[in-house]
Parts: sequence; structure tokens; C-alpha cells
Amino acid sequence: MTFHAALEAAAAHVQGCLSEELQDYCDAPVIAAMRYAVGGGKGLRGFLVMESARLFGLPASQSVWAAAAVEAVHAYSLVHDDLPAMDDDDLRRGQPTVHVKWDDATAILAGDALQTLAFDLLARPACSPDPARRVALIASLAEAAGARGMVLGQAQDIAAETAAMPLTLSKITDLQANKTGALIRWSAEAGARLAGADPAPLTAYATALGLAFQIADDILDVEGDAETAGKRLRKDADAGKATFVSLLGLDAAKARAAALVEEAETALSPFGATAEPLREAARFVIAREK
Ligand code: IPE
Ligand code: IPE
Ligand code: MG
Ligand code: MG
Ligand code: MG
Repeated sequence: MTFHAALEAAAAHVQGCLSEELQDYCDAPVIAAMRYAVGGGKGLRGFLVMESARLFGLPASQSVWAAAAVEAVHAYSLVHDDLPAMDDDDLRRGQPTVHVKWDDATAILAGDALQTLAFDLLARPACSPDPARRVALIASLAEAAGARGMVLGQAQDIAAETAAMPLTLSKITDLQANKTGALIRWSAEAGARLAGADPAPLTAYATALGLAFQIADDILDVEGDAETAGKRLRKDADAGKATFVSLLGLDAAKARAAALVEEAETALSPFGATAEPLREAARFVIAREK
């Protein structure tokens, strides 16, 4: 199977799991908004969960639960990221954003409920028969998504818009490691946590990958095609966002992303050929057009 086919298959598996879960809920607008928000993404974070689990011999039927959990948190983060009070975007994954299709209150609540759904899924025995491993996943995702991870990064991103001085390279690296890196790191480490193994060997991979991913997102904002990307572009510079591109320029940002991908691939050497899909994922994040 090609990398793209494997990524699509994993995304379909994860979306199937989330759709089935939400099928039993009532028909309130907030539930319709949740169903809408979990659809249509690339599913990269879920793929990282399932591929890292495969390194330890765990079946997709099990790892799909943790994969669905992180995709639910990610979907929530996008619904809130697009709100008028944040990036004020009207297009996501080629469709109207949740607050445009419904309203701000529904978007806020759908995001809130997607976040709690993630922890609900991780707490189930289907996720891991071992309660200690479930708790490890829940605690680490809470940290990655919260005020020492993604939420902090989003706050740093917003604060940078009005900062008197442009952020330094080290500040931008820190911001991006939180904003995008934390959930990507959690995803790539999840397989080890599910297996009760030390996540450290995957941390180096995930750290480099997460940064490369956000640099690529920032490059896409400058160079990408909105139709292909499925979201509005050319917004970062206008909003005064602090990005590698704003600080280094396009060429140096691309060089940095490519070096990070090499770093990510090298970090997987202990896993040999089994880790090939994760290496391909690293190459994909900087080559992608959406
Ligand atoms: C977009 O993430 C938001 C960032 C963290 C930069 P993705 O590019 O993974 O979005 P989807 O899930 O594929 O839509
Ligand atoms: C979003 O970053 C990061 C999170 C939602 C945590 P961006 O604001 O750069 O993502 P896009 O460009 O809207 O997808
Ligand atoms: Mg944003
Ligand atoms: Mg945004
Ligand atoms: Mg962006």
C-alpha cells in the first residue's frame, strides 16, 4: 500500500469510529456540529498513533481508540481556532467553518464536547485492557492539550500578534512546539504508552516532526493554493503571526523544515524497517499541499 492509501485508510478507520460513537447521541445542533467537525481532515495525528502502536505489535482495532481521541481534540482545536475571536476563518477542510454553518455558541460548545469525548474514549477498556495504561494516556493527553501544551501555544500565538518586538527564533520554536508540536508528540508517543514501553525513543522523532509540520503550515499560508488547502491562506502576515517564515523568510524556513525531517527519520533508526510509514509521514508533512 502506498503511503497516501495507508493514510487515507487510517483516517477512514478513525472517522468511522467517531461517527459510530456519535450516532447514538441525540439530534441537537451541537451534536450535528461535532459530527461535521470530525470529518474531512488528513488524519495525520491518528495515523501517527496507529503506526506507533504497530511498532509494538498492537492491532489497529485497539489503537483506533487513542487515534480517535487525538483527532477529536484536534478537531476541537480547529473549531475554536477558526472562531471570530481567534483566527476568524470561514473555511476549513473545504467547507464552511462550524461557527459559520451554525453559530459561535454552537461552535464553542461542539469544541468543548469534542475535547471531553477524547477523554471518554481513552477511559474505555477497548482502548487498553490495562487501567494504568489508560490513565497514562489520559494524563499525557491532558498535559499535551492544555496550558502546558496546545492551549499555551495558541495563547502565545495570539499574544505575538500584538507584541512590540518580533519574536526571536527560540521563542517561535517554543510557541510552535506547544501550538502544534504537543499533540503531534502525544500521537507519536501513544503507541509506546499503549504498549507500556518507554515513549522516549519516539520523542525525538515527534519533536522534529511537529516543528516541521507547523513550518510547512506556515509556508503553505504564503505559497499554497486555498482551493487545494481547503482553508483561507495569506492570513498569517496580515495578522502579524510569528512564524519561521516571518522571521527567516521562505527559503531558510524550507531548509529548516527539510533538516527537521531528516532529523525525524534518523531518530527512527532503532525501529528499522517497521518504522518506514513513520518516515514517509515525516517526508509527507513538508511535501503536502494541504
Ligand atoms: C491544521 O492541521 C492546523 C495546524 C495545527 C497547523 P492539519 O493540517 O493536520 O489539519 P487537518 O486535520 O488535516 O484538516
Ligand atoms: C492552528 O494553527 C493550531 C491549532 C489549532 C492548535 P493555525 O491557526 O496556523 O492553523 P490553520 O492555518 O488555521 O489551519
Ligand atoms: Mg491559529
Ligand atoms: Mg488558524
Ligand atoms: Mg496556519
